[in-house]
Amino acid sequence: MVRNVAGIMTELESEDFYLLSGVEQGMRFSEWVNRKKIPSLSNLSPEEVSYRLDRCAKRELIERKTIQYEGYTLTAEGYDALALHTFAERETIDGVGAPLGVGKESDVLEVRAHKPMAMKFHREGYTNFREVMRERNYTSEREHVSWLYTARKAAEREYNALAELYPTVNVPRPIEQNRHAIVMEKFSGVELNRTKIPPEQVSGVLSLILSEIATTYEEGYVHCDMSEYNVAINESEVTIFDWPQAVPTTHQNSAERLTRDISNLINYFQRKYPQVAPDVSPADISGQIQSGRFDSHDIIG
Ligand SMILES: Nc1ncnc2c1ncn2[C@@H]1O[C@H](COP(=O)(O)OP(=O)(O)OP(=O)(O)O)[C@@H](O)[C@H]1O
Ligand SMILES: [Mg+2]
Repeated sequence: MVRNVAGIMTELESEDFYLLSGVEQGMRFSEWVNRKKIPSLSNLSPEEVSYRLDRCAKRELIERKTIQYEGYTLTAEGYDALALHTFAERETIDGVGAPLGVGKESDVLEVRAHKPMAMKFHREGYTNFREVMRERNYTSEREHVSWLYTARKAAEREYNALAELYPTVNVPRPIEQNRHAIVMEKFSGVELNRTKIPPEQVSGVLSLILSEIATTYEEGYVHCDMSEYNVAINESEVTIFDWPQAVPTTHQNSAERLTRDISNLINYFQRKYPQVAPDVSPADISGQIQSGRFDSHDIIG
């Protein structure tokens, strides 16, 4: 997990955010922003820039590197600080709490608003970028695709899918998106992989999830990352989350992805509940969903 910047937000001043946002703008053109460009990018005097660069570097919100020139880049924490600042200014949130989960490519934290919510920072591209930069140790601008862009695109894709699907499909209610961050409602319940369903309820839960997948398809989407890690259940309902990879049903591979999602799920149920999981064919169910003929009663038997 990337260090939680919430603790240092109160130490930061408006000019620090001007500086960070200047570096952010410079990163549209190169991963390491030339120091000489920072005053005009951030609308600060050169003296102010020197002072703010030191403050922000000390707090690890930016990194410095001298290759052909003295350059600066935002760290994940620096980008997080910018998104948090925006959410706070818009009064979307008024405090950050404990981690809710660490995924392969995200950090999810509890945030305070009028009620507890979840905030997800996307990290797509960030880890890769760090590895590549370590190996190369030079700045190649020809193939410049900033991780800022990759992570922001993932957050936009996830937010748009949630906004399209909520509330027809049981997904976390989306509240707001900024940069690589999403604020959404916290779901109650626990992920499938962390719970044991009583035997008499196994078919029922599987059919509920398949029904959500069918409704998602009717609404024009396929999740594309369906697994026991991305479904939460409580006593009465299931929630499907983690949507950045979703594709529209018009996508050329949507049928194949739908079948793969259903296979992942059914295989998991058959592995974990071999005695009671229904013996159904993912391909058949995928076909039924695509033709609008899926009936969850067939699963419960
Ligand atoms: N809305 C939410 N409410 C409560 N907890 C959440 C919420 N969204 C995410 N989480 C927690 O954060 C974890 C990671 O979230 P998510 O699966 O969306 O991210 P991810 O990085 O894409 O995961 P993956 O490892 O599948 O790629 C979840 O397993 C869950 O514990
Ligand atoms: Mg996940």
